[in-house]
Amino acid sequence: MQKSTVFQLIEPIGANLQVEAMRVLGIETSCDETGVAVYDSERGLMAHALHSQAALHQVYGGVVPELASRDHVRKLLPLIRAVLGQACIDSESLDGIAYTAGPGLIGALLVGASVAQSIAWTLGVPAIGLHHMEGHLLAAMLDEDPPALPCMSLLVSGGHTQLVEVKSLGHYCVLGQSLDDAVGEAFDKTAKLLGLGYPGGPALAALALKGEPNRYTFPRPMTDRPGLDFSFSGLKTHALVTLRESDGSLQAKADIARAFEDAAVETLVTKSRRAMAQTGLRRLVVAGGVGANARLRDRLAVDLAKHQVRVFYPRLEFCTDNGAMIAYAGWLRLRGGERSGSIISARARWPMEELSPIS
Ligand code: KG4
Ligand code: ZN
Repeated sequence: MQKSTVFQLIEPIGANLQVEAMRVLGIETSCDETGVAVYDSERGLMAHALHSQAALHQVYGGVVPELASRDHVRKLLPLIRAVLGQACIDSESLDGIAYTAGPGLIGALLVGASVAQSIAWTLGVPAIGLHHMEGHLLAAMLDEDPPALPCMSLLVSGGHTQLVEVKSLGHYCVLGQSLDDAVGEAFDKTAKLLGLGYPGGPALAALALKGEPNRYTFPRPMTDRPGLDFSFSGLKTHALVTLRESDGSLQAKADIARAFEDAAVETLVTKSRRAMAQTGLRRLVVAGGVGANARLRDRLAVDLAKHQVRVFYPRLEFCTDNGAMIAYAGWLRLRGGERSGSIISARARWPMEELSPIS
């Protein structure tokens, strides 16, 4: 049974950056969540909704791209109707349409791009295709107490692990990234070999709570050499070997989950601390699905506070994929006059440094 959720916010948030009145519909379909939201420059986030495909993919132990595309086709228009209804507005009041144009699954992205461009064309309003990871980063700006710029950002999702210096809005410098698996991907793969469901990150974190600390010690990859790049694929292999050598009991699995989580989190903390020292920045934004991880939040709070670094997060529900971050980022780019033209296109890969500064 798949579930859809629709929310309407009573208190609008994030309206403090407005320049001129503009209302933007945001559409996110880069992977296995259909996300839709409306952001209004005067009223803030008016409504948002998310349809998760987790149940659809669970039986396969991971996202099946073709099934993801088809489900976006089925769910996107009803979700848009639901969000407009929750916001008590009709489509004619929209001033722009924002959609995730990449990086992500190309078929899934093209569903969002086609629907967004069609609505924009029908309404005669501009459309803008956005970078998914910029959306994650800017979700932190929806907060009532957003970080000032410049800042550092740790972007940690199922597809990316990056330390990105945010010089100004839209001006990004990637200082380090994973050379193989993203940290969320490593969580998911390790969860799968421990027999946990998909998506594995939250399930592994829950099992790790029952694990005995230090029963197993996993390596902290690439922390013993200079630089800000990551490598997480070895941790998953380490978990597999440790599991094979264990008695396979639930307690052994919990201990392995704990060792994996500690190693992944400590690696992220070490590299973040290094990035802050290297740049002298005092603000760190942590965004993307793994930003919801409680142990990561605890460890960053303890470790970076010692170095007078303040850590910012998007609201918990906006750490993972959502339409709100796209509506908001779309408003920022549209109000600066950016448009994507009417060509329906998407990019599976898209380096953040190719983005243009937001005026
Ligand atoms: O940002 P996101 O929703 O989608 C992508 O852009 O990939 O991130 C999803 C990733 C998945 O790998 C999921 O397992 C991981 O974030 N994740 C977590 C937690 N919640 C989500 N990983 C560890 N702990 C969590 N609490
Ligand atoms: Zn994401």
